[in-house]
Amino acid sequence: MDMNVIIGSDHGGFDLKEEIRRFLSEKGEHIVKDIGTFNHDPVDYPIIAHEVAKNISEERFNRGILVCGSGIGMSIVANRQRNVRAALCHNLYTVRLSREHNDANILVLGGRVLGLGLALEMVDLFLTTDFEGGRHQRRLEEIDNITNAPETD
Ligand code: RB5
Repeated sequence: MDMNVIIGSDHGGFDLKEEIRRFLSEKGEHIVKDIGTFNHDPVDYPIIAHEVAKNISEERFNRGILVCGSGIGMSIVANRQRNVRAALCHNLYTVRLSREHNDANILVLGGRVLGLGLALEMVDLFLTTDFEGGRHQRRLEEIDNITNAPETD
């Protein structure tokens, strides 16, 4: 399925983000919007993560990919936006489950953690794996229902 994909990184994820953009543009299957960063100069990850997550939350893009040094900062920030399910993944197994069980809409990668070949396979799997629905759909609905429920005690 063709998708609109928004990608972004800080300086720690810049090299991998560039490789991901090249990889996706060579495949030519998806529309890819790169919001930067565009060089190695230090840039604060919350700015980039917020922009990608906001675009996913507002349904301007189907999927997002965020890369920082470890992936941790980007995933913390991205998951603050409503309807964002950002998954920090380290291998193909977690990528597959992030889609099948969690319907993750943002893949977060650590540019200083992953080898290039694995990271590109992870991107491909993230963009081609369907959500299983069923019991997992109920659990996704519980995320909002439980976390937004008024406190009682
Ligand atoms: C930047 O040095 C680094 O802290 C950032 O890329 C990321 O790993 C934060 O979680």
